[in-house]
Amino acid sequence: MGDDLLQRVRVHGVVPAHIAIIMDGNGRWAAGRALPRPLGHHAGMSSVREVVEGCLEAGVSVLTLFAFSQENWQRPAGEIEALMSLLEEYIAREMSELRAQGVAVRILGDLDRLTGGARRAADRIVAETGGGTKLALNLCISYGSRAEIVRAARLLAEDAAAGRIDPAAIDEEALGRRLYTAEWPDPDLLIRTSGEMRISNFLLWQLAYAELYVTPVLWPDFTRRHLFEAILEFQRRDRRFGRVLA
Ligand code: FPP
Repeated sequence: MGDDLLQRVRVHGVVPAHIAIIMDGNGRWAAGRALPRPLGHHAGMSSVREVVEGCLEAGVSVLTLFAFSQENWQRPAGEIEALMSLLEEYIAREMSELRAQGVAVRILGDLDRLTGGARRAADRIVAETGGGTKLALNLCISYGSRAEIVRAARLLAEDAAAGRIDPAAIDEEALGRRLYTAEWPDPDLLIRTSGEMRISNFLLWQLAYAELYVTPVLWPDFTRRHLFEAILEFQRRDRRFGRVLA
């Protein structure tokens, strides 16, 4: 599926090393079918499988997905519960396949707020897939970018107070090394589904030079073909990083 587009991605140019996705529109997808919102989130799991497969096929190294924001804790209790059990279901359903495919899963965010079951499942998948070398899959859960930057600032302050770092030596790299994403290069491409033109407190620091791609497609309808279309569009962009290119 999508072989024609994959071929074009391969011959067209540089494949982004790191893709980040704001998976939006599950609620609207469900409402359009007169279904309860949690069923939209459930349908969204198949799109996660699609983009993981697509990244493996295209040779993307890092995929970072926004699955649950800090702001999402303000949703009705029933929906939060559904999202937490969905995380457990996703992990139970996908763990062995992800491991077999060489996908290393990491969970980024304030994990202390997760329910007991979701936290245990998260710890298990990180431990069990740690050896994966084909694709790093980062699931941002209970994640907010400003909180992540504040946490990094606090870690820097602690290191400075303990004499481990000279305040004059604090630079972008020093802060970047204290973000959840320290191990990976910044995203080259941000995809947002369902047409909203917002960053929504996602990877504010890391997206400094990312190419933005917004599609009207709702997340549960998003397939690897849509991913390849986004990569093809990325390959047509002229990335200058603030410079003038000859
Ligand atoms: C935004 O849609 C989506 C979410 C809040 C949840 C995303 C979760 C998944 C795709 C589930 C599977 C993934 C994993 C890794 C467990 P929305 O509810 O804001 O949609 P709306 O804007 O149409 O209301």
